[in-house]
Amino acid sequence: MLRSMVEARELYKSFGETQAVVGVSFSVPIGQIVGFLGPNGAGKTSTLRMLAGYLEPTKGQAIIDGVAVNDDPLLARRKIGYLPENCPLYDEMMVIDFLHFVAELRMIPPSQQNERLRPICDRCGISSVLGKDIGQLSKGYRQRVGFAQAIVGDPDLLLLDEPTSGLDPNQILEIRALIKELGKEKTIILSTHLLYEVQASCDRVIIISDGKLMADDDLETLMSRGTASRVSLLFGPGDGEVDATRIREVLASVPEIRNVTSRPSEGDGTLGFSVDAGGDGDSRPALFQAVAQNGLPLLEMYREQVSLEETFRKLTQGT
Ligand SMILES: Nc1ncnc2c1ncn2[C@@H]1O[C@H](COP(=O)(O)OP(=O)(O)OP(=O)(O)O)[C@@H](O)[C@H]1O
Ligand SMILES: [Mg+2]
Repeated sequence: MLRSMVEARELYKSFGETQAVVGVSFSVPIGQIVGFLGPNGAGKTSTLRMLAGYLEPTKGQAIIDGVAVNDDPLLARRKIGYLPENCPLYDEMMVIDFLHFVAELRMIPPSQQNERLRPICDRCGISSVLGKDIGQLSKGYRQRVGFAQAIVGDPDLLLLDEPTSGLDPNQILEIRALIKELGKEKTIILSTHLLYEVQASCDRVIIISDGKLMADDDLETLMSRGTASRVSLLFGPGDGEVDATRIREVLASVPEIRNVTSRPSEGDGTLGFSVDAGGDGDSRPALFQAVAQNGLPLLEMYREQVSLEETFRKLTQGT
């Protein structure tokens, strides 16, 4: 069996009347990059803070690399690099001074700090801003400094709370590349409310909603649950008229297809349809066969990407 880096055992957290986390359990083997996905207020930050030893669970326990966080938060924290949500940094401090300060907290002897910090700064792309005050940095650079402080202690586990939130598209790509790079040697839990963020960076996804665990799957399984069942098709004008009624009949005749809807016309003579299939399988081969057998002028066919909300709906509906 793979050794676990993280074990969340029946974690509960209440704030007064609010039940932020309700019996969440999961384990993460060494080396995995896990997306921790959920809408606003789902309990992501609360869960990560409990794992990181900054929030005491109301019930349950977190175990980091064999260390119970409640029993020995300091030892557990040494194994963790934590990038909090909206990472609070000292605006008045110069980047380099701040990193030395963090190194100090991580008990790295002053004589070794430069050696330790140099590759981290290179890796995080902040070597050119070391002399600037943190308050002068752009959001993207701030976030990089947040990453740098998280890895100063060379932790085996990184807990990243919405690491790309508020960044522009270029900065998002840079941070994603950094996560991928760090993921080569570290176990990572990355929280986000964006499904595509998980798609871009993670092997596996844990979904929480209202403090409860809704799904824990590898990405492919989850994506197929969310997307396999709806397919878009576009038929071209071809030589003659395309017959919408005929197309509709053929699509509806495919086993498993429950629902055929036509999309508004693009005004170019093409006809678009969306179909919903029952079951979890991929309906595209059967659709293609029916279309080909009936000689319909197919231009495009693809699985529709569904939103996180729809995936949630599918995951929670009728179960
Ligand atoms: N310190 C606190 N005091 C009171 N309530 C809190 C506290 N921290 C979190 N909560 C509540 O617990 C619930 C879960 O919050 P949490 O911040 O964990 O969610 P989240 O998934 O991180 O949300 P977001 O995507 O908005 O960051 C929310 O209802 C929130 O209002
Ligand atoms: Mg949060």
